[in-house]
Amino acid sequence: MLKIENLTLEKDGRQILNGINLSVNKGEIYALLGRNGTGKTSLAYAVMGCKGYEAGEGKIIFERNEITRLSISQRAKLGITLAWQKPAVFEGLTVEEYLKCKNNDTNVHGLLSIVGMSSIYLNRMVDDKLSGGERKRIELASVMAMKPKLAILDEIDSGIDAPSLPFIRKTVQKMRDNGITIILISHSEDTLNICDRASLIGAGQVLKTAYPKIVKEFFTKHCKQCNHLYEIDWKEIKYDF
Ligand SMILES: Nc1ncnc2c1ncn2[C@@H]1O[C@H](COP(=O)(O)OP(=O)(O)OP(=O)(O)O)[C@@H](O)[C@H]1O
Ligand SMILES: [Mg+2]
Repeated sequence: MLKIENLTLEKDGRQILNGINLSVNKGEIYALLGRNGTGKTSLAYAVMGCKGYEAGEGKIIFERNEITRLSISQRAKLGITLAWQKPAVFEGLTVEEYLKCKNNDTNVHGLLSIVGMSSIYLNRMVDDKLSGGERKRIELASVMAMKPKLAILDEIDSGIDAPSLPFIRKTVQKMRDNGITIILISHSEDTLNICDRASLIGAGQVLKTAYPKIVKEFFTKHCKQCNHLYEIDWKEIKYDF
């Protein structure tokens, strides 16, 4: 369904994506994992077509059509959508209006209950008074409202309270069961367990693609040894613990 070929992306003179190759099959939950700052969100933005994240080289192919140079709204029309790692706030819009502007025919009560929220939230504003977890849930509901073909969920499980996490994972599985192909970016091992395949991203490249368990083992074994990010001289740190 989605094929990415040798994708590169540069930001502020730094190579963020350095020749990404991966392909996502229709109907699967495909995980992207990797350490902080390795380019997962940037890759999500590049696939979605966000401004400022246009590919340098390489191709993005969606359902056999090249979309590399299409705008974000053209890609949205083709059925691609993104749940943001840091969802934006929309001053002046209620939750109901926000969900309806994604899809006017959507059942807003149903959507909120799927993400574990009561209908009381429909009249709340999508502003910064919502908690982080509330905003994340509404973001997931808004992705479902759009009925996309491909949903990219960027850390949809971060900021969610522990008792609700299985519920959020179930929701993602339900989306897949309803025919939505999913790219899931997550740091959680439990979330990884609901994925069909995974790719480990490191230094803007795909280091390994396999079943999630195998990729996780590879990640733990190899990336932990790669200490250059954390070369700290503890003797130099003056701090009273
Ligand atoms: N607009 C930008 N301008 C400059 N640098 C950027 C920009 N967007 C991303 N980067 C840099 O690209 C690198 C990758 O960032 P990205 O957000 O894609 O990482 P990530 O893998 O999603 O990390 P995390 O797990 O922390 O969410 C980081 O070093 C980041 O600072
Ligand atoms: Mg990220």
